[in-house]
Amino acid sequence: MMEKTFLMLKPDAVQRGFVGEIISTFEKKGFKLAGMKFIQVDRALAEEHYAEHKGKGFFEPTVEYIMSSPVVAMVWQGKNVVALARELMGATNPANANPGSIRGRYGMDISRNVIHGSDSVTSAEREISLYFKPEELVEYTKAGDEWLSE
Ligand code: TYD
Ligand code: MG
Repeated sequence: MMEKTFLMLKPDAVQRGFVGEIISTFEKKGFKLAGMKFIQVDRALAEEHYAEHKGKGFFEPTVEYIMSSPVVAMVWQGKNVVALARELMGATNPANANPGSIRGRYGMDISRNVIHGSDSVTSAEREISLYFKPEELVEYTKAGDEWLSE
């Protein structure tokens, strides 16, 4: 089974119109989309998503923020996709992110950092199961796969 990660285009990405461009970044890299939905996150899901940060000062504002607009929730798969997606995203704080990265290109402030991506394979499994039922993920052959690796 190919490695999978959970990515979310956060409210600022949706409201500022970067959905297509960001999806394109992952498509062009060669990752394969396995699931996608456009949803309004409710409080229970938002708190579960950020459960590891409960008790920190930024927990409540971050929860409020991801409930503030619809988001695009996605599962992408590919070789080493968890770590590579984090590389493509850039540092948590866009102010410190490589300017070529997604957060470096589109963001300014840590509280509006455009995209979420799982930080490990274990987190990815947890986050995917929060947002997707197993039957909502698809396995398929994609034209072009044979041009990505031998
Ligand atoms: P974290 O899991 O540390 O970052 P990442 O999204 O890169 O895995 O934090 C989760 C989110 O919380 C982060 O994307 C933005 C927000 N946040 C703040 O608003 N202030 C902070 O000081 C931190 C660490 C995070
Ligand atoms: Mg995190």
